[in-house]
Amino acid sequence: MKKILILSGSPVKNGNTTALAAWFAEGARSKGAQVDIVAAAFLKYKSTGCTSCRRCQALKEYACVIPDEATPVLARMSEADVIVMATPLYFYGPSAQLKLVMDRMFSLYKWDNEAGTMTTPLKGKKLVLLASAYEDIGLDAMEKPFALTADYSGMGFESLLVPNAGESGDVKPQAAVREKAVALGCRIAQE
Ligand SMILES: Cc1cc2nc3c(=O)[nH]c(=O)nc-3n(C[C@H](O)[C@H](O)[C@H](O)COP(=O)(O)O)c2cc1C
Repeated sequence: MKKILILSGSPVKNGNTTALAAWFAEGARSKGAQVDIVAAAFLKYKSTGCTSCRRCQALKEYACVIPDEATPVLARMSEADVIVMATPLYFYGPSAQLKLVMDRMFSLYKWDNEAGTMTTPLKGKKLVLLASAYEDIGLDAMEKPFALTADYSGMGFESLLVPNAGESGDVKPQAAVREKAVALGCRIAQE
């Protein structure tokens, strides 16, 4: 059974990002995947993102040392087959709420600079980006760091970008978008 972890990164509880994540999950679950959705914006954090303390690099395991609600989510990323990041476009980037977790993925890599090597449990998994924007400019630019991160990590990458999604909640009656998100969830679950 495929394990899919969705990080939903909007501060709006019932908006476009939530809808895209729910549709993707619906499709994936219909094909037998085990799907967990984490509302990343509502986790209780003890730091404002990665503090670059580097203490994770001294651990044997791939874990963040900050004892807050993001740390077990990072551990679940190592166990998932597919990691889905869902976000609104905020000034041509992902939401700060999603970025808080993303930067702490630093703890999921071990670098040996002398040997010039990097290892990560993310290798071989898939990263999926679900993103929406009010306008039709900028989603491609926002996609770039996700695609590059996937490539760097040895992960596959796919995205569903929804321009002209309107304001929060406006995407819900858009049947064509729903269909695409459900279909992507179905397909990824079956890969
Ligand atoms: C702080 C902020 C910044 C935004 N920046 C952009 C932007 O640069 N380009 C754009 O097209 N839409 C922008 N939007 C609109 C949202 O990306 C869009 O409405 C999105 O679908 C909302 O998703 P949500 O309902 O999950 O929050 C912004 C909205 C907010 C609140």
